[in-house]
This record gives sequence, structure tokens and C-alpha cells, in this order.
Amino acid sequence: MLDDRTIKTDIANNWNRAYENYDNCYAHGLKSAGEKREWLRLLDRLIPEKPCAVLDVGAGTGFVSLLLAEQGHQCKGLDLSEKMLSVAREKAARSGYGNVSFAIGDAEETGEEDNRYDVVINRHLVWTLPHPEQAIQEWKRVLKPGGKLIILEGNWHYNRLPDRISVFFGKCLLSLQEKRNAFSHQGDYDEALKESLPMLKSKNAKRLSAMVAEAGFSVTVHPLKDVDQAEKKAMPLGYRFLNPHKRIAVVGIKEMVSE
Ligand SMILES: C[S@@+](CC[C@H](N)C(=O)[O-])C[C@H]1O[C@@H](n2cnc3c(N)ncnc32)[C@H](O)[C@@H]1O
Repeated sequence: MLDDRTIKTDIANNWNRAYENYDNCYAHGLKSAGEKREWLRLLDRLIPEKPCAVLDVGAGTGFVSLLLAEQGHQCKGLDLSEKMLSVAREKAARSGYGNVSFAIGDAEETGEEDNRYDVVINRHLVWTLPHPEQAIQEWKRVLKPGGKLIILEGNWHYNRLPDRISVFFGKCLLSLQEKRNAFSHQGDYDEALKESLPMLKSKNAKRLSAMVAEAGFSVTVHPLKDVDQAEKKAMPLGYRFLNPHKRIAVVGIKEMVSE
């Protein structure tokens, strides 16, 4: 097992290498107006009261933070990777948002005040945390009583046979269409790092909601079918097969009176 410091440094290095192409990838950046509309509708449903003080942990290139800023929330994004944040800051400046800021920080140890935020949110983060339970406790600590934790995740690791067939077929199709070897995969975490990340291969929805409930939140789980559908619609066929993931939102409400 790797020690914590090595894990966090490896993760930051990985994303400092991957930042340039991140927004271009399907399932990461926005590819169509329809996709953006569905994400905004979803966030509006999940956070109907406005404006909220929001902490976006593992903010990356600012996907969630910038949508929330557009909706009028006061948002702070934390991430381990300076390069991912440089893209987020550039996009915020281009859009002229004064209600969003970004800082280097660890989602598992944010350094934020107790009871500070109305909402703590993250998208596509928990799979890459070495201590997800500790992180959930940390998010609870910085949430106000009655505050909301929103975890947006997907089943990225395709263990089921139909998913594996779909990915194989997608890679064949893309190799033919794009005249490249779609089976060679670059920029992934190495095996030692993967072994240190307990959520990487787990069935996210069940395990995640159980973890959030165990941390003392009241929990609901929402499949994100509309977002997934809009995203697939914007993908060429090969990428649709390559991305059989289904997303969910795990929403936890912190109790009004802290124990
Ligand atoms: C798949 S990206 C998701 C980025 C963004 N949330 C999005 O939805 O596009 C994962 C991000 O989490 C960041 N990350 C990983 N572990 C982290 C940690 N412990 N604390 C803060 N950020 C972390 C990485 O640097 C990377 O930017």
C-alpha cells in the first residue's frame, strides 16, 4: 500500500498531466446545449434555494462550480491539481463570474471552518479518494446544520459482462473509424495507486449511499437518466458504446442539531 502523501502527490501529478484534454473528453466537458440544459435543470432541482454558499470538492476544471455560479450561487472550488484549477480560473474569468473562486485543497481535509456551507458538492471524485469515509465526515463538519451533501458519481469500472462487451465493441468501432488503436489506454492511474482507492471498483450507488447514511445524513439516491441521455445524444456511436456508465446523485441532509 502507498502512504497518503505519495497517493495525493501521484493523483495531483496525474491530473496536472491530463488537464489540457480533460474538457474535450466525452463525459467530462460539455459537448452540446442539450447537455448543459440537463445539468442546469438537475442542479436547479437539487439546489432549489438560491443563493447558497457551496463548496465544490475536487472541482477540477470547474464543471460544477461554473454551472452553479451561472445559477447565482457563491461557490468555492478545491482541487489538488494546480493545472486543472488553472483551466477553471480561465473559464471563470472568460465568463466574468465574480461569485466563484478556486483554491488548492484536499477534499479529505479541506481546512474550511465548521458549519460554513449550505451545500458541499462533488462530481466524479469519490472513486479517486483513499479515505472516502473520512472525506464524508469532513464534508459533514463544514456543512451547516440542515445543509446538503451532493455526490455525483457513476459506475465507471465496467465489471458487468454487458458493459464489458459494449466497451469492447466501442473500441473496435473507434479503431476503425478514427484509424487509431483505441485499445491502448494512456494517462490512467498505475496499479499501486488503484489498489489504494477503495471506491474504484465498487458498485457506487449502494455502497456510497450506505456510507453517507452511516455518517449520519438522511439519504436519497437519484438516477441521472436525463443527463446521461443528453450526453449520449451528443456522442458519436463508438463513444456511446465506450461509455455505458450510469450516473447517480447521492444526496444527504445533515441533521439540524449536531450531536
Ligand atoms: C475526474 S476529475 C473531476 C473534476 C470535476 N469535479 C468534474 O466534474 O469535471 C477528478 C478531480 O479530482 C481531483 N482530486 C482527486 N483527489 C482529490 C482530493 N483528495 N482533493 C481534492 N481534489 C482531488 C483531481 O485533481 C481532479 O481534478
